[in-house]
Parts: sequence; structure tokens; C-alpha cells
Amino acid sequence: MKKLITTPIYYVNDIAHLGHAYTTLAADVLTRFFREQGEQVFFLTGTDEHGAKIAESAKKEGKDPKEFCDEKSELFKKTWENLNIKYDHFVRTTDEKHEKAVKKFLENLKDSIYEKEYEGLYCTGCEKFLTEKELVDGLCPDHKKEPEKIKEKNYFFKLKDYLNKVEKLIESGKLKIEPDFARKETLALLKQDLDDFSISRQKVKWGIEFPFDKNQTIYVWFEALLNYVSSIGYGTDEFNEWWDDAEIVHLLAKDILKFHTIYWPAILLAAKQKTPDKEFIHGFFTVDGQKMSKTIGNVIDPNDIVNEFGVDGARYLLLSQFPFGQDGDFKKEKFIEKYNSDLANGLGNLVARVLKLATDKKLEPEKNILDRTKQTRDNYLEYFKDFKLFEVLNEIWKLIAFCNEYIDKNKPWESENREQIISNLLYAISEIAFLIEPFLPETSEKIKKQLENNKSIILFKRMLSIT
Ligand code: MSP
Repeated sequence: MKKLITTPIYYVNDIAHLGHAYTTLAADVLTRFFREQGEQVFFLTGTDEHGAKIAESAKKEGKDPKEFCDEKSELFKKTWENLNIKYDHFVRTTDEKHEKAVKKFLENLKDSIYEKEYEGLYCTGCEKFLTEKELVDGLCPDHKKEPEKIKEKNYFFKLKDYLNKVEKLIESGKLKIEPDFARKETLALLKQDLDDFSISRQKVKWGIEFPFDKNQTIYVWFEALLNYVSSIGYGTDEFNEWWDDAEIVHLLAKDILKFHTIYWPAILLAAKQKTPDKEFIHGFFTVDGQKMSKTIGNVIDPNDIVNEFGVDGARYLLLSQFPFGQDGDFKKEKFIEKYNSDLANGLGNLVARVLKLATDKKLEPEKNILDRTKQTRDNYLEYFKDFKLFEVLNEIWKLIAFCNEYIDKNKPWESENREQIISNLLYAISEIAFLIEPFLPETSEKIKKQLENNKSIILFKRMLSIT
């Protein structure tokens, strides 16, 4: 089986923050898991670099937009490196390969495009037209700014021609939208009167030239969606190898649902291309109860979390807070507590305690231990296949708790059965080392080495809690 796993491509006007890290880390974990299952996976991420918003941000810093994008996209790459996130391709929408593919795609879409004079309310923060209904007190609800009234000639994509077909794709299950709330929301949106949408801008200079009209640039969202095909070689022979043969899985949060679950399949249908197989929409989280925003000043830089808790510590803390797919809240003061209880005490302590008592003599594990670990492995596989990352972690940590209790109950240090008890535990730990690999790859390696050498080295240093 082949899988193409993608994240949204992130706007470079912002630093790579915890929100971006959350999706990208989840994609990395899923990639590692499916590879372990023997699948061939292509993991794609990148940065969205065109449009008025980026041009304005560059101007504010007194930089040429390309120079600005070069710098900011490097920061994203660096952050992913610090989090041990291993993608196969990092697309930048200023790449020549992307630009070429986008132009080619538009040529193939010619019959579904028309020209019209248009007037609408545009929010640069969202990079989209808003309807009167969407405004709150005349302001964009997300950016608290009055949208700009724009009147210009635009090129439009005939979205309406494809809405029925998109609905059928979803209803037949050919396009899976998960979790169910996102599927329902998409179907509800399809029942509203959605309009054709503009795919070009007349006055935005920072963008890819519109092939049929040199005075226009391609609308940033339209171009951004095409990263999913440009990255794997749209317009060349290598394209079909992934797009046609792989299961296509998009990960995103609900803020950009409509673009992905409605516009994107419609665009692909119009271009006579295969549509995605699955779109997984995870929740949107707040930090200490508030939306993460520059104005509030509560934007979390994932690099800070790595510096404080180590790379695997950060990876664990990010995915163990609330179920993937649901909204949640990151409580920063809970990080230390969770790190100490689950990593330093839970996992770290288990490995240290057992290895301290281990000798070279190893016996076959007993049936009750084999059954217990098998139960974890079975649930683990079920949850992982449904992208239930939080539940997967819970399953592993239940096994860790079981092992710690098993030591307390059986007291190997004073037991006649010491060798058997320790062998059982060593077996369970080797299972745990295997199971945590997608989440905590470095720790997994360390435990495997420690088991080989029968020697324990501290995995997670306990941290002092300030409270
Ligand atoms: N550039 C567009 C996406 C184009 S994809 C063809 C964009 N960029 S973004 O930088 O705003 O990234 C939005 C995405 O970042 C979300 O869909 C989600 O993946 C992630 N998140 C950003 N903040 C988040 C939270 N607070 N919570 C969860 N995910 C968040 O939209």
C-alpha cells in the first residue's frame, strides 16, 4: 500500500507555532507508524508564500518578499528538524517546480473558468472574501478588522457545476471526511448556496502570473491547494505514480475545512483528476483557555518546548493533551506535571528499575505477560488506523502503569522467582520500546540499546515543579 500524507502549507507571515507543529507532528507520527506497517509513505509539508498578506508582512520588515520568504521558510524547516519531524518534501510555493505545475494545471482547467466583474469584502488576514453574514459587528470575526471593499475583474472557477458531484463523493464514502463532525459540517455547507469562487486577483502583485491574463495573479488559496499535486510532479510522468496509486490523506484543522473538503475536490473533478481518499480534520486548540494570537501574546514557539523538555518530551506533550480530532486546551503549567508523571516517573522509572535488577539470564515471558502485551498491541493497531493518536498513547501508558504495578506487587528484589519476573518485564519493555517508536523515536532507540547492554541511563530527568 502507498500513502501520500499531507499537512496544510503554512503562511510564512507567522513563526512556526504550536498549532502548525501539532498538525505536522501528527503527520510525522502517522508516517512513521504506517511505514512500520510496511506501507510506502510520502510525507509532504511546506510553506504558503504568496499573496497580499505575505507581501505586507515583508514590507513591514523592510524586506523584499522573496528574501522574506526565504528567511521564514527556513525557520519552519529548522523547527521541524528540532522536533525530529522527517518529511519527504518541503514545498515552497515560490519554487519554480510549483509555479510551472500550477500554470499547467490552469491550462487544463480552462473550460471551467470564466471572467466577471466582481465586488466583495476581502479580509487579507484570512486571504478570502467574506460574506456580510460572516461578519460580526462589521468586522472579520478572526482578525477583528473591517474587510476591504474590492471591486475588480476576476477569473472565476465554476464551483457550482461540481457541488452535486462533491456531495456524492462524500455520501458514497469515496471521499472520507473524518471525524464525523467535519463530514456533517461539509454536507451542511453543501446545502447552502455556495457561489463560484474567484481564482485570480487584479491588484495583488506578489503571486504567480495568471496564464490567460498577464495583468492578474493567481489567487493565493487556489494556488496553495495545488501544492498537493505540484509537489509530486504534476505535469510529469512521475505524478501518476503517487497521485493515482497512493491513498491520498490530507490533515488539517477545521479553520480551513471548506477549502479542502469542497473547493479542492471540485477543482480536481474539473481537472479530471482523482480526488483525495481521506481528509482528517483535527480540532482547534486554545492556550490557557484563549485563542493563540500575537495580539494576546500567548503564541507558543515549539522550539521553546523542545529546549525545556527535550525533543521526545515535546513530541509527547503535544499529542497527549486531548484527543486528536477534538478541540482542546493547552495548559502550560500542566506540562511539567505531565512530563514528570508520564515520562520521568512512568516510562523512565520503569526502565531504570527493571534494568537495575536485570542479569544476563533471560527466560521466556509467561503467558499472562504475553496476553497483556498482545492486548495493548491489538488496541494500538485499531486506534492508530483510525488516527486516534491520543488513545494510542493511553494504551501504551496503561501498559507502562501495569508494569510498574507488576513490579510493586511481585517485588522481584526479594522474590525466589526473580529471574522470571524480570524476564517478563524485560519482554514488556521491549514491546513498549517498539510501540512508542512513532511518537518518541529517540527514546525508543535508547531503550533498545539499554536492553541490549543491560545498562540503564536516565531517559527523562525529573523536572522541578514551580508550583
Ligand atoms: N496557508 C493556508 C493553508 C493552505 S493549505 C493548501 C493556511 N495556513 S496557516 O498557517 O494559517 O495554517 C493553518 C493550519 O495550521 C491549520 O489548519 C492547522 O493545521 C494549523 N493550526 C494553526 N493553529 C492551530 C491551532 N490553534 N490549533 C490546531 N491547529 C492549528 O491556512
